[in-house]
Amino acid sequence: MKKIQISPSILSADFSQLGNEIKKLSEAGADMIHVDVMDGHFVPNLTIGPPVIKDLKKYSSIPFDVHLMISPVHQYIEAYAEAGADIITIHPEATNDLQSSIDKINKLNKKVGVSLNPDSKINLIEKNLDQIDLVLIMSVNPGFGGQKFMPEVLDKIKNLVRIRKERNLNFDIEIDGGINFDNCKLAIEAGANIIVSGTTIFKSNNGNIKKNIDLLRSI
Ligand code: DX5
Ligand code: ZN
Repeated sequence: MKKIQISPSILSADFSQLGNEIKKLSEAGADMIHVDVMDGHFVPNLTIGPPVIKDLKKYSSIPFDVHLMISPVHQYIEAYAEAGADIITIHPEATNDLQSSIDKINKLNKKVGVSLNPDSKINLIEKNLDQIDLVLIMSVNPGFGGQKFMPEVLDKIKNLVRIRKERNLNFDIEIDGGINFDNCKLAIEAGANIIVSGTTIFKSNNGNIKKNIDLLRSI
């Protein structure tokens, strides 16, 4: 079994203190920093762009797990790579040519992530799985933090685990959206090994992020 890693989403952080928030997360034992990039078009919300990521990189040396919810994504991949993204995750519906977007991320020597919305099926990415480092399973419809976990995506995780074994592949499975201390266990049991969490890490236990990261990891 792969080691469980925690990727806190800074969507729930205090945006006026982002540098310090990232420093605190890495000191609290986060394995990576999940950065939600939204364009007000692919999803109905707007967040941050490459210059912000570039400056935030100064606050921590742990990997930046950059989740691009922008369309068309292809033309922006390079800017996020240059800004310091270590993992670049894209949605198949946000590019005209998934293969060439994957190739571009690979050529830039970044880890390739591909994300499936709750209604998106595995067959959208099945033929690309051997070139993908990570599959990000959305357990809410992307756009906002604080939404309710959709347990129906657990079967998709189980199917991915089966395909990974059948094809002798090694991609990580990350889950994102509505994770709390109860459903985290279900996601891990299904086969997820990277856990994204915003609300639970920043708001539970009076915002004790170390305690919340430790709890999610030990579930
Ligand atoms: C949703 C984002 C998630 C979200 C997670 O579009 O991709 O990363 O911020 O936040 P919580 O844990 O609050 O659902
Ligand atoms: Zn995300």
